[in-house]
Amino acid sequence: MLSTRMASLADIPAIQRLADAQTARHHACDPRLPERIALPSWLVFTDDATCWLALAGRRPVGALSAMHERWPPDNPLSNVFPRHYLRLRLFLAEDAAPAEVLPVLLRCVEGWPGARGVSGRMLNVPACDAALQAALRAGGFAPYHAIAYRPMLPPPPCPPVDGLVIRAAANGDVPALAGLLDESWRFHAAHQPAIRLSDSLREGCAEQVTLLMGGGGHQRLLVAERQGEVVGFFGIGLSVQDPQVRPAFFVRGYYGDIFEVAVRADWRRRGVGRAMFQAAWAWFARRDVRGVFVNYAPTNPLSSRFWPRLGFVDAWINFWRA
Ligand SMILES: CC(C)(COP(=O)(O)OP(=O)(O)OC[C@H]1O[C@@H](n2cnc3c(N)ncnc32)[C@H](O)[C@@H]1OP(=O)(O)O)[C@@H](O)C(=O)NCCC(=O)NCCS
Repeated sequence: MLSTRMASLADIPAIQRLADAQTARHHACDPRLPERIALPSWLVFTDDATCWLALAGRRPVGALSAMHERWPPDNPLSNVFPRHYLRLRLFLAEDAAPAEVLPVLLRCVEGWPGARGVSGRMLNVPACDAALQAALRAGGFAPYHAIAYRPMLPPPPCPPVDGLVIRAAANGDVPALAGLLDESWRFHAAHQPAIRLSDSLREGCAEQVTLLMGGGGHQRLLVAERQGEVVGFFGIGLSVQDPQVRPAFFVRGYYGDIFEVAVRADWRRRGVGRAMFQAAWAWFARRDVRGVFVNYAPTNPLSSRFWPRLGFVDAWINFWRA
């Protein structure tokens, strides 16, 4: 029989021990995942975050923290993502069964006054942790998006697409790219109910494209053009993962990120996406990253086939419950 209580600052060492046990377990099942994560107290106790412990007798067997996440209105992604939700983090002892501990801790969140008014709850789970995924599904959670990874092996050769040119985006491309991104978000929303499109989606897409064009050389927006028309784009950049500083998804290192990708509907399935990936791979290779990751919706019938075909393998799955 498990009991629960709200954790206090004095519990941080016990929570870190649970996090250590779980992180080591996950690293053993998938060596791309961190060996150890540092658990800063701001993540567990701030005005915006709370944590509960599940106890077997006096021994902590699980901890669940809940933190408010908000997309501010001036961020263009606030036009598509849930504006205000709870980010959950779960840490389980070696011998804790997710099916027993998770429901007990989730009840604490539901009884928490701070959970009122949020649009949902999000929890990242390693793709290799089938028991935790089964417990989440039983609790009404469903996959929202996957983080897939590909090491820097050369991509398989692809046949050239007649007349296709891949180049860096220019300011004059913004209206066409915003149109493609707008269409892509509407496509995603049709396959993922957690996506919430705002009335300002089109303006937000133009802002998002401008941000993807970025600056400082750590980002690149690639455009696929044919006979003067923009038929696709690939927004990419660089990132550092350091699990010793903040909770990270991967072992320490320098990585490539794929942010946004779309091909015009009438040009899909003709090799444009694959050709843009080749160009992105060359950009990453020149920057010596150890691998590349991408977020995609497993419910999206196109990207869920495209990324695995290019050699990406799921590392994490974000589960969502309204
Ligand atoms: C995902 C997307 C970018 C792929 O671009 P694309 O130019 O159509 O992809 P390609 O033609 O280069 O396909 C490469 C391979 O991916 C797989 N693939 C792509 N689309 C597929 C589909 N609809 N069904 C099955 N496999 C598919 C195939 O294996 C294909 O190779 P093949 O045609 O030789 O069998 C495009 O479908 C798209 O814009 N979708 C809408 C927006 C979106 O989902 N963006 C992704 C965000 S993560």
